[in-house]
Formats: sequence, structure tokens, C-alpha cells
Amino acid sequence: MNASQMERVVVNLVDNAIKHSPSGTPIGVSARITCDGELQLSVEDEGPGVPAADRERIFEPFFRNQTARESNVPGHGLGLAICQSIVLAHGGRIEVNDRPGSGACFSVFLPAPVQAGTRSGSGFGNIPLIQKSPILHRHRAEAVRVRPPGGAPAKAPRSAR
Ligand SMILES: Nc1ncnc2c1ncn2[C@@H]1O[C@H](COP(=O)(O)OP(=O)(O)OP(=O)(O)O)[C@@H](O)[C@H]1O
Ligand SMILES: [Mg+2]
Repeated sequence: MNASQMERVVVNLVDNAIKHSPSGTPIGVSARITCDGELQLSVEDEGPGVPAADRERIFEPFFRNQTARESNVPGHGLGLAICQSIVLAHGGRIEVNDRPGSGACFSVFLPAPVQAGTRSGSGFGNIPLIQKSPILHRHRAEAVRVRPPGGAPAKAPRSAR
């Protein structure tokens, strides 16, 4: 796995969650291994979400939906296209769903590494790197909580308290 490219994916998704949801609302970042052995990275927010009609197009370069175009939110419609190309290059996929309640939940699924004829989840050794990554500190870190897989929300970074 190319860690710097995967960091770019997470940065873009967190950037979107910040830009496309109201100021002060929480953003969740989580990682887990699915029952199929995939690594699932999710970024969710409590913004307006992505209308079903836009869900395919938001991954096209330069597409910004009506809500984004009519707002003052800056952007070129490139972040998700970059995310998708990185994820596809890793053999994975990216999708968006409604967050229960309101908002968007973007998830990246990466295939489990195959080791000597057996599938193993242990090759995702850099999940902890995501939790420690300085990328979250460059954003409104007070709004971001990083959840360990299956665990309770971690405390906010010291810089955000
Ligand atoms: N978290 C989100 N909530 C609601 N809509 C979103 C969210 N993330 C992306 N979108 C929609 O998908 C579009 C494409 O996202 P993308 O990241 O490619 O572009 P951008 O954020 O507008 O600009 P850029 O990433 O180039 O700065 C956005 O313009 C917006 O319409
Ligand atoms: Mg973006």
C-alpha cells in the first residue's frame, strides 16, 4: 500500500466533510476490517449528504453538485476523482452512502493482502498510522474524532482542547 497516496485519500475525504457540512458539526473517521477481510476506512459528517442522483457523478473530475455550486464553498471538483483513482489503483473501491440520521458517509474498501495461499488481515499494519497521522491536526481537529476499529471514540487531540 502506498501510504502517502492513502493519506491523500483520507485528507480529501476529511476536507470534504469539513467543507460540505455546517461549521461546528462533528466528523467521524473510522477504520475496521470487514467480515470479508477488507479494510474499510470511513469518513462521515452531519451535512446535507449527497443526493442519490449525484452519487455516480461526484467521482467524475470537475463535477460539483448544485448545493456546492450555489454555496461559497471553494473547490474544483477534483478531490473525489483523485481519491477514486488512488483507490482503484490499490484494487479497492470507494462509495458514498447516507449517514444514519443525516449526512454523508464515504467509505474506502481495500482488499485484504493475500499471503501464501491464505487471506490475512494482519497486513493492514498501518491502521494505527491513520490514528496517529498529523493530517487530522491540519484541519479543524476539534471536530474530528478518530475511532479505533471496534473501539470507543478516542479523545480529541491535545491541540484541539
Ligand atoms: N461530504 C460531502 N457532503 C456533501 N457533498 C459532498 C461531500 N463530499 C463531496 N461532495 C459533493 O461531491 C462534489 C465533488 O467533490 P470533490 O471533492 O471532487 O470536489 P470539491 O470538494 O468540490 O472540490 P476540490 O476537492 O477540488 O477542492 C462536491 O462538489 C460536492 O458536491
Ligand atoms: Mg473535495
